[in-house]
Amino acid sequence: MMPAIEDAPGPRVLQVCAEIFPLLKTGGLADVAGALPLALQPLGVDVRLLLPGFEPILRGLEAPVVVATLQPPGAMQAAHGARLLYGRLPACGLWGYVIDAPAYYRRDGAPYEERGDNHLRFALLGWTAAALAQGLDPFWRAELLHAHDWHAALAPAYLRAAEAAQHRRLAGCVYTVHNLAYQGMYGAHLFGELGLPGHFYSVQGLEFHGHVNFMKAGLHYADRISTVSPSYAREIQSPEQGCGLDGLLRSRTAALTGILNGVDTRVWDPATDAHLPAPYDGADLGGKATCKQALQAELGLAGDAHAPLLCVVSRLAEQKGLHLVLQALPRLVEAGAQFALLGSGDAWMEAAFREFAQARPRQVAVRLGYDEPFAHRLIAGSDLILVPSRYEPCGLTQLYGLRYGTLPVVRRVGGLADTVADTRLETLDGEATGFVFDAFDAEALCAAVRRALALHRRPADWALVQRRAMAQRWDWEGPARQYRQLYRHALH
Ligand code: ADP
Ligand code: GLC
Repeated sequence: MMPAIEDAPGPRVLQVCAEIFPLLKTGGLADVAGALPLALQPLGVDVRLLLPGFEPILRGLEAPVVVATLQPPGAMQAAHGARLLYGRLPACGLWGYVIDAPAYYRRDGAPYEERGDNHLRFALLGWTAAALAQGLDPFWRAELLHAHDWHAALAPAYLRAAEAAQHRRLAGCVYTVHNLAYQGMYGAHLFGELGLPGHFYSVQGLEFHGHVNFMKAGLHYADRISTVSPSYAREIQSPEQGCGLDGLLRSRTAALTGILNGVDTRVWDPATDAHLPAPYDGADLGGKATCKQALQAELGLAGDAHAPLLCVVSRLAEQKGLHLVLQALPRLVEAGAQFALLGSGDAWMEAAFREFAQARPRQVAVRLGYDEPFAHRLIAGSDLILVPSRYEPCGLTQLYGLRYGTLPVVRRVGGLADTVADTRLETLDGEATGFVFDAFDAEALCAAVRRALALHRRPADWALVQRRAMAQRWDWEGPARQYRQLYRHALH
């Protein structure tokens, strides 16, 4: 009997990504990079990582061996002699290649901070990926490149360029869009520095309104494209959400799929989470009350067990729609809610939230900055988590909310729409797991939170929805199976 396609051995897949939890994280991309490869392994996929040698990533590499010295083309001279290292990343439980190019990656500041050479720093990532499909490591040749976001988007372009030069197919390629708004755009005069064939700078290639566009390379040259939710896969094919690339995405609609992100249950599980003052699960929510009490004390909020506590854990960026929260807050606080935020980003928004907290310290608390353990304590100790995004490719914090019995209030967009089911009378005994609103304005957000507060005043119904949310499975096994299927399509 023929083995089912499900049981056939998986391919050698190189995951190409610029950040990875817990070593380096600026957002959900790192959570995905840290969890998806581990979920693919039990499915038989032979997966390795390729990461840029940022300081925290290099520090996390155990007993590295030098695989090769790099000789990239174009203007990447600063990387000549850079070393490709291979070793274990114990904090991630994975094996991977790290590009040790000190001139590119070992510098102070945020990982993607632009100092005039980002096109080269991230071209090197894509070029090295393509080289690993051509035997750069004689002991392991990638059969499939899986490139994530604009940082890795030149991998398919360098791969296709090598294939054209060698007149043969070298590897399959999957490109995943985590956020279409960040595309990696550079002046046309920089194209020559990338060392790609001249004709790649065309509408059927990297050219985008007279600029070089990394994201476009990924979308154009990959065999298959995915994004992180089915709804976002549809939305980005429309002019409203296509960020100028909707035409290209529509032309590739047959190659485009949406696969929801999962939750890394080794990291996000209230029953085992070491960051929490007390563990809990759906069968015994006692620990959650302890978490709330401890959180109120930690933040100086009134120690009222009955006051509904709303939270936000987020980048403070336009995408996240948090100005709606700012507009709604006076009314929500008036209605008896408490509010706590953890975030960093736009200076005006940081200042506005800080001001609000200073005016009402017993009801509103704001912590600015990035704090992983506090994110866990905040989500566990709150009753509701607000995610009113303008757009949201997938979103992870609403999934963490579901798992922690912290009901999400979300806008019906992207992955938020795909993961949260609205609570109404007719869904209370069925699928309800949170609160969903449509219009992108403070009134709609307020109305959804008011419905949530009404449910909170009915403890039995509240607990019903909470337990249902917690019982859902959002782990990575399902998504990993879908990615394996996608790899098969990309390879054939
Ligand atoms: P995005 O990637 O667009 O920022 P996601 O919801 O996919 O949104 O992922 C955000 C990730 O970053 C989550 O793991 C969330 O807990 C984390 N996060 C966001 N802001 C902070 C912060 N200030 N401190 C700690 N973790 C944060
Ligand atoms: C992006 C998106 C977010 C998604 C994350 C991981 O940062 O903004 O919605 O969850 O990538 O895929």
